[in-house]
Amino acid sequence: MKKVKARACSNIALVKYWGKRDTKLNLPAVASISITLDSLFTETSVFFDQKQTSDRLFLNGEKSTEKDRIRLSKFIDLIRKRAGVNDFAMVESINNFPTSAGLASSASSFACLALAASRAAGLNMDNDELSLFARIGSGSAARSVYGGFVEMKLGKREDGSDAVAHPLFSRDHWDLTVLIAITSEEKKKTGSTDGMELSRKTSPYYKPWVESSADDIQDMRQAIKEKDFQKVAEIAEFSCLKMHALALASNPGLIYWNGTTVDLIHKVREMRDMGIPVFFTIDAGPQLKAICPSDYAAKVESILLEQPGVKRVMKTPLGGDATILEEQDI
Ligand code: PMV
Repeated sequence: MKKVKARACSNIALVKYWGKRDTKLNLPAVASISITLDSLFTETSVFFDQKQTSDRLFLNGEKSTEKDRIRLSKFIDLIRKRAGVNDFAMVESINNFPTSAGLASSASSFACLALAASRAAGLNMDNDELSLFARIGSGSAARSVYGGFVEMKLGKREDGSDAVAHPLFSRDHWDLTVLIAITSEEKKKTGSTDGMELSRKTSPYYKPWVESSADDIQDMRQAIKEKDFQKVAEIAEFSCLKMHALALASNPGLIYWNGTTVDLIHKVREMRDMGIPVFFTIDAGPQLKAICPSDYAAKVESILLEQPGVKRVMKTPLGGDATILEEQDI
């Protein structure tokens, strides 16, 4: 048995995932495209211990809630089954950024856990299998297995074996910087899993959302390939606003933004009108992510910092693949 420590970076989607076609297997209803964020990451260490009588989880140095521990155990059960291991796991996980505030902590967490737990259980999964396991934990986690520009495939098979992410381009393809304007550090009220299900069941925009997604994916793939900033900006903002329109039109409506988020949307567009190449995207939370070529990052950062309601700005280049940091025999 081994104690294994791994690191995985968070990611943000440029073409969004919202909605599941199978809740048990956690299969997405739409494909998605993301970029991996170098400076926002999770580090997780795992070992299986025959003396323990249940799985144990520490998050950011504190014993986790029972809800989080149950979610962990369900995931670890899959790894145990695949590896033929019966022991309970000791899991310590640290995020270097706010948890559950729309910064995709579940993405880096489950990608990291899939890598560390599988290796600690004696498995040597390839990236396809890691992505598949990560996806069962959280849809966006499938993408955090890879660095750079990543596409999460919709997949056709009922068992979900082809619903995995694959890398489109490495981070060296295009020198972009992501600036995250933190407008609130509170935990969000409705997580993405519950939010998506509410939208699927109640939003009249759900069907057109699912039907229009394939075009966005194809256009985004091409725009990234050609490094066509204008086009990437246009598709990313379209996909983001479409996702939030879908969420807003759920019943009861899901409002992930606060006033500052809305002000920042206008500010980013104002910057673009002034000739600064920058666009925004927003996940299921109030933080706005501004994306620009790295040459413009200092300028965009200083403008964002001037805006009332912005608590701080995090700045990150694109990140790499999930990796093992330490492995020790115990
Ligand atoms: O992976 P989840 O269940 O946390 O869902 C992620 C949903 C969004 O972040 C809003 C969009 C996306 O594609 O990452």
